[in-house]
Amino acid sequence: MIVLGIESSCDETAAAVVRDDRTILSNVVLSQLDEHRPYGGVVPEIAARSHLDYMDSITDQAMKEAGIGYEDLDAVAVTGGPGLIGGVMVGVMTAKAISLARQLPFVAVNHLEGHALTARLNGDVEFPYLLLLVSGGHCQLLAVEGVGKYTLYGRTVDDAVGEAFDKSAKMMGLPYPGGPNLEKMAAKGDASKYDLPRPMKGRPGCDFSFSGLKTAVRQQIQKLPEEGLTDPVVADLCASFQKAVGDVLEDRVGRAIAQFKQDYGDGHALVVGGGVAANTHIRGVLTGLCAREGMQFAAPPIHLCTDNAAMIAWAGLEHFRLGHQDSLEFAPRPRWPL
Ligand code: KG4
Ligand code: ZN
Repeated sequence: MIVLGIESSCDETAAAVVRDDRTILSNVVLSQLDEHRPYGGVVPEIAARSHLDYMDSITDQAMKEAGIGYEDLDAVAVTGGPGLIGGVMVGVMTAKAISLARQLPFVAVNHLEGHALTARLNGDVEFPYLLLLVSGGHCQLLAVEGVGKYTLYGRTVDDAVGEAFDKSAKMMGLPYPGGPNLEKMAAKGDASKYDLPRPMKGRPGCDFSFSGLKTAVRQQIQKLPEEGLTDPVVADLCASFQKAVGDVLEDRVGRAIAQFKQDYGDGHALVVGGGVAANTHIRGVLTGLCAREGMQFAAPPIHLCTDNAAMIAWAGLEHFRLGHQDSLEFAPRPRWPL
């Protein structure tokens, strides 16, 4: 079974072809970073126009690189939401056109489910597993029982982790995108330099909160002596911020593991997904936690953690082989909880 996947819910125009033996035949991602950088964040209108300009050629490229023709496809899958509506519409229209012209089944995929199932494309991860989904727009802990079967353990009550990284980085004058740049600076800093809060740490339940941490970074910056944000200061602040996030995630995920073991028993995996899963410190924290808890830890390679279409093709494939597909009446869903 071979599925074409299309992704355009944020600032990557992406298309990929994936086979059911978990081979990624092609995975093309065009980042719009350069177009949004001057504005310090994603501008929805620019994103939608850019998706429109490039979607056809990116899809063609994915098919060419896969070395197959449209007649070799079994289905076409596309991110149907959640995300920026203009971009999602471009992807959905493209996928519907291909489906109609080539008489192919159409599968609308929840972007979060793409992140959630990536670990199964990448390696041997069996259901059920505990999922930490940490991206620019989302921060959730879920028990993944099967395709389409998710139980929410906890979520952020305010900012997503990636958002906290991006906003804090911006306050420190780091270029967009903040997350990866903050991580680079943190590598040169001293994490014990600034005493930042660990919101929600030690509280019952598995919810997160990051807006207090972001505010603490702002207050710390306001308190700096006259030289202000010099490189060594920024490095220390980044390292302290990253350490605070790592400590919070360790606490929250630790609680979720206890809940998950109660619900499903031992011998299962913790999977991390979403763009923030690219962070080496956070991966290290989770690796240590899983070693102590006797759990398998599965983290997809970085290019599959950040937005891509291989994860959408794979999630579509997982649904399609269970007999699920959508009608061409499907309407894009800017909000679509898992
Ligand atoms: O999953 P993703 O590509 O897009 C969304 O669905 O949101 O995640 C992007 C987010 C951004 O907030 C970005 O700053 C963050 O992931 N990110 C990182 C790192 N790489 C990407 N955050 C911390 N450390 C990183 N290395
Ligand atoms: Zn994403």
